[in-house]
Order: sequence, then structure tokens, then C-alpha cells
Amino acid sequence: KFEGLAETPPLGWNSWNTFATDINEELVKGIADKFIELGLKDAGYEYIVLDDGWMAKERDANGNLIADPVKFPNGMKALADYIHSKGLKFGIYNCAGSKTCGGYPGSRGFEYQDARLYASWDVDYLKYDWCNTEKLNAEGAYMTMRDALKKAGRPIVFSICEWGDNEPWKWAKDVGHAWRVTGDIINCWDCEIGHGSWSSRGVWKIINLREDIRKFAGPGHWNDYDMMEVGNGMTDAEDRSHFAMWSMLASPLIMGNDLRTASKETVKTLANKEVIAVNQDKLGIQGFRFSNENNFEIWLKPLEKDAWAMTFVNMSDETKSIDFDWIKHGFGDDLNGKWVDLKQQKFSIRDLYNHKNLGDTSSNLKAEIGSHDVLMIKMVKK
Ligand code: GLA
Repeated sequence: KFEGLAETPPLGWNSWNTFATDINEELVKGIADKFIELGLKDAGYEYIVLDDGWMAKERDANGNLIADPVKFPNGMKALADYIHSKGLKFGIYNCAGSKTCGGYPGSRGFEYQDARLYASWDVDYLKYDWCNTEKLNAEGAYMTMRDALKKAGRPIVFSICEWGDNEPWKWAKDVGHAWRVTGDIINCWDCEIGHGSWSSRGVWKIINLREDIRKFAGPGHWNDYDMMEVGNGMTDAEDRSHFAMWSMLASPLIMGNDLRTASKETVKTLANKEVIAVNQDKLGIQGFRFSNENNFEIWLKPLEKDAWAMTFVNMSDETKSIDFDWIKHGFGDDLNGKWVDLKQQKFSIRDLYNHKNLGDTSSNLKAEIGSHDVLMIKMVKK
């Protein structure tokens, strides 16, 4: 694969969660404009990714993919140029099978031809799905597309989407830059619809299904917990928790809402630079569940310079108080063998959503946290 890409988790937007195949040039240009207007580019968001539905139903006489002429009358290169003119990057979607999940032409047997075409359109990111693959071997199929992209010569982030069915965390480190770990997300806190890999899951169902794979993630190869549902119908508190968790998990932060109609609160959450900095930390260590007691989940993520991010999530239906005794709990990470002796070492505490300093670890951490809301803090050595 192309090395040196996605050294921190990709930040961007994808059309699928809100628009499915109902996409077009005006919409995508409008989203690019909003990246600038809403300060999202400034916050670090970069990729604008067209998901399924951008193509015409058939390839042309030479076997080339063509953009749907009604949805994208000026074609993909013109759209890429527009997005690049805003200082952003352009992503596209296809599938390892004979057809995409939406029934558009897939890349099977056309991998090198498609990769050359994407490179000629100045594509920067490819999401590569797993429908209609019959008996294809996943690792082999994704390696073929990786090799095709490499041969085409343009640095393209390669995002693997086979829903975790073939445990890509075990083999995809040198194949893609991120791999989906579950079936599709839906906009709920803890629900599940359907079965097996066709199951759609809410935020906590996704987290709980794949909490044991953190050691496989790192710079250039991330566990992808799916495009976000922030702004798509959960409460603002739930959106804050969802965003905090995707940051703690070092997942790609790919927005999935309609930025043209997003509320102030939604934009505030998505553009929160202090939270994004946790996701983008250069160490690239995925966070983990530290404890789960009295309806509070506590998550930890080691950061650069011996700093830490900690997130308290109130899983209950009512507002609850915490009174967290640092000395009693201590904290650390078995993965990198770092444990902190809080009798020796003090940390200052910063609240990343309220942008406030909260003293240090020499006294208990006290706070009120609303139902399904979070307290997300960063701890820096004093
Ligand atoms: C699969 C993927 C989704 C989306 C659709 C498009 O379900 O997991 O993220 O790309 O296909 O058809």
C-alpha cells in the first residue's frame, strides 16, 4: 500500500448515512462549501467521500466506469477539481464484487482499469466494499485492489469495508489504511436491527462487539468503527458521547450528516478541536475500557508526552454525579505497560467539551454528568 498516508485517522465526510444513493454534484459541492463555512476544514476535516450510487448502471464500451450523467453532469474530474480548489480531498466508493451493494458495477476483474481511472480523476481515497463477492477470498481481493492502486501511482487512502467478517485487523495492516470492524451503523444509542453481518448497530452495540482489537490499530492502519451518526437524530448528549468514543477508539472520524442543515450544537460537537486532538494523537494508540461500574463507563487512551485522555460516560437514564478518587483507582495501560503512580505523579485536568481546567489529580474529580452524556478530560503531567 502507499505508506505515509493516514498516519493519524482520516477525517472527513461520507454521503451514505444521510443520502444513500440519492447524491449529486450540487449536494457534494454544497458540503465542500460547508467544510469551510462551518470551520470543519479548520478543525482538520479533509476528505469528502462519495459512497455508493455515483456511477451509471453500466460501464462504457471500453469497460470504463462512468459517473451517472444526471447526478454528476460534469463528471468526476470536475468535482475533484472543485473539492481540491477548496484545499480538500476527494474520495470515491466501489466494491470488490461483481456489483456494489446498491447494484452498480463492481470492480471485480476491472481492478487495474478502475484504479487508473481514479488516479486520472485525482481521487485521494477509496472505500472498497464487499457485496456480491461470491467465493472471493477477502485478503486476496483487497490485496489485488491495493496493488492496482499502487500501480496507478497516485497516493490514495485505501479504506477496507468488509464489515469485520474476515477479521481484517489480523491481515490488513499492509493492505489498507483502515478497515471497518462491523456491519453498518444506525443512529441510535444501543439498538440492533437484523442478524450477523447484515445487522445494523447503534453506537454501543458497535463498541461492545469490537472492544478486543485495539492492539491491531496504529499509524497508517486503523480500526474503523464506521461513519458517524452525529447530527442524525440522537440527542446532543448522545452525539457528544458518540464523538468522544470514536475519538478514544482512534477510529476514522467520518461525518455522516447533512452539513447544510446541521444545528449549532451538532457543529460544535463535530468541530471540537480538543476532542479531535485526542483522536489525532500522534502515538496512535487506540483507547480501552478502563472500568464499568455504577452505570459509568470509563475509557482511557494514552497520548503523546505521557498525557492521557479519559472519558466518563453516564450510561444511565438520569443525571449522575461522580466523585472519582484518583489514588484509589490509579490508571495505566497494560498494552504499553505504562502504569501511573498518582502518589508520585500529579496531572492537571482539562475538560475537553467545556474547555475548562478542572484542577489536578491531588483531589477527587467531581462532576455532574447528564444521561448518556460524557465528561471527557485530558491529563497532562505537572
Ligand atoms: C455497505 C457498506 C455501507 C455503504 C453501503 C453502500 O452496506 O457497509 O457503508 O457503503 O454498502 O451500498
